[in-house]
Amino acid sequence: MSHSRHTCAQVALHRLCFLTCLLTVTLVAADELQGDDNQNNEKWLEPARSRLMHVIGAMPFFPHRANTTGNLVLNVKDFDNAQVCGACHTEIYRQWRSSMMSQAWDEPIYRALLKRASAATEGKVDNFCTGCHTPIGLTTGQITSQVNRSSIEDSAKNHPMPGVDCETCHNISARTGLDNGAYVLSPRAHGKPTKFGPRKDAVSPYHDTVYSALHTRSDFCGTCHNVTHPFSSVAVERTYDEWQESTYSLNNVTCQSCHMPGFAGKAAIMGPDRKEVASHWFSGANATMLKHLGQEEGAQRARDMLARAAQITFQQLPAAIIPGQYASVAVKVTNVGAGHKLPTGFPEGREMWIDFRVQDASGRELYRLGSIKDGKTEVNTRNFKVHIGDKNGNPLDVEVWNATQILSDNRILPKGYNIGEFSFLVPADAVGPLTLTADLNYWPFSQKLADYLLGKDKLQVEITRMANVTQSVPLSTGSDTAKRAIPAKLKLDDASAYYKE
Ligand code: HEC
Ligand code: HEC
Ligand code: HEC
Ligand code: HEC
Ligand code: HEC
Repeated sequence: MSHSRHTCAQVALHRLCFLTCLLTVTLVAADELQGDDNQNNEKWLEPARSRLMHVIGAMPFFPHRANTTGNLVLNVKDFDNAQVCGACHTEIYRQWRSSMMSQAWDEPIYRALLKRASAATEGKVDNFCTGCHTPIGLTTGQITSQVNRSSIEDSAKNHPMPGVDCETCHNISARTGLDNGAYVLSPRAHGKPTKFGPRKDAVSPYHDTVYSALHTRSDFCGTCHNVTHPFSSVAVERTYDEWQESTYSLNNVTCQSCHMPGFAGKAAIMGPDRKEVASHWFSGANATMLKHLGQEEGAQRARDMLARAAQITFQQLPAAIIPGQYASVAVKVTNVGAGHKLPTGFPEGREMWIDFRVQDASGRELYRLGSIKDGKTEVNTRNFKVHIGDKNGNPLDVEVWNATQILSDNRILPKGYNIGEFSFLVPADAVGPLTLTADLNYWPFSQKLADYLLGKDKLQVEITRMANVTQSVPLSTGSDTAKRAIPAKLKLDDASAYYKE
């Protein structure tokens, strides 16, 4: 498949390449459901090990797919701390600092899961996790199981490591695949510090600049935003593929279009004024973690992204609801703004759901589905989530390293929608009119998972309300349909009978 990136520039071939990829993904999906027949599926097996195993040193950081020029371990001294870049790239630095990617190594949920993954697999996944969460930590050979299992305080003091930082992204010279961190890091590509970027006219006193078309395209992000289980080949995260199969990719609306929109200003303090400088907020959805890390502005941007992503509406609302009977309401949720599934990414956590409530005019709650019980969305909540499972079909909430299959996935496709129905019994003594409310909520992981990983009450998970709809519906009084529903002993022409206690 690696030829596709060279040909995608031309529209016709772009389509062909899209179809080819679509076909591949379909095959993969079909295979996953059936389990272990991987014959058509070699590409995803132990990240291309079968092919690359014969090339000495082809996967120097196995099972991660990172490469370096010459496949050598890199020198720590080849990389600057982001603060050095920030001295000239002040605005870009400020933005990046408030993003999740700048915290990809230090943030507590990652570290807690890493520790467990490392211990449970006896270090087999150490390289795998760190190759995306601290690419420079891995490729400079600083990562050990001991570091991975140490506390955040200890590693900050004794083994500080960058997350996904300036040097990570701007030393990427190429990619060798589309998942599991198949980037190639080439610091000092021309003998001097070299930064790969989107400009053909950038001149810097501090480093060489090299134009990189890759940086302007989604497949740049796709190297890390597609996670395949390195041993069972389950498609753990597929944000890039989800985008690739959407109309956004056909219309060249890239990850950068939505996550790095341009701002008018300077890319560097001594650089020229430019109409559109690529922003580095990388706003996503993790308001919870950003708030926890003290990044209030980043958290607010995540909430704004979530608000932009979805709409919720009532469909076929009954003209009137009949007391004493069941009523049904259809609710439609549309993914209007996310260029991938909604939600996407980290499968153990990401969840969106409808909190549906019915209240009567006296303020009494007649019905609710979608509340939080025991730190989780209650049983039968209409939620949108992917569920991964182990070889016995048991759902996995934590131990993703045991994943061998996708059990279910009802997340909403880009520009797609879902219509679901709520049915509830309206008590005979309900007071009209009824108020129907549906909140569309999101959290990056449940309170229960946070408590389990970090300890009780260490992190308060925020429920972000993405969208909301409220409507008032009268109770039926004396209509034909109502007659059927109303117990004979009540006087049909006296509607007030229903409103009384
Ligand atoms: C002494 C100031 C200075 C420092 C320090 C500095 N840069 Fe630059 N950099 C510049 C200037 C000036 C430009 C050109 C800006 C423009 O043309 O808009 C630039 C451009 C860039 C570009 C765009 C290249 C392109 O071709 O699109 C990237 C990427 C970049 N720098 C990354 C970095 C990174 C990463 C670091 C830290 C290792 C860094 N810079 C440190 C001054 C600096
Ligand atoms: C059309 C605009 C658009 C495009 C294109 C787009 N995104 Fe997003 N992205 C969003 C919005 C809106 C959200 C917030 C809602 C959500 O979580 O999906 C988001 C959220 C995310 C998240 C956080 C999701 C979560 O719940 O944890 C990640 C990661 C992400 N995007 C990565 C990408 C990558 C990588 C690409 C390209 C392959 C991409 N996005 C393309 C709009 C876009
Ligand atoms: C996750 C990867 C990633 C990280 C981290 C990152 N960048 Fe970038 N950067 C990019 C991409 C991709 C582009 C090009 C975006 C486009 O063309 O739309 C870019 C563009 C730039 C540009 C050129 C902006 C312009 O429009 O002229 C500069 C300068 C730059 N980055 C510097 C930095 C600095 C400094 C840091 C750290 C504070 C940093 N980047 C962190 C991916 C990254
Ligand atoms: C070297 C690997 C790597 C590359 C390249 C990369 N990312 Fe990321 N990205 C990550 C990791 C790891 C995280 C998760 C950090 C965490 O939550 O611990 C992340 C998180 C994010 C988030 C925040 C998600 C949230 O939950 O809020 C967004 C948005 C995002 N990336 C967008 C992009 C875009 C856009 C690009 C391409 C321009 C890109 N990334 C390239 C590794 C990468
Ligand atoms: C191929 C790159 C890649 C690899 C390998 C990888 N991750 Fe990630 N990880 C990501 C990206 C990208 C995100 C952000 C997705 C999103 O926002 O939904 C992420 C998100 C996470 C999160 C959610 C963090 C939060 O605050 O919500 C955790 C926890 C995590 N990863 C743990 C791990 C562990 C443990 C491993 C190894 C078993 C691992 N990751 C391997 C790319 C990777």
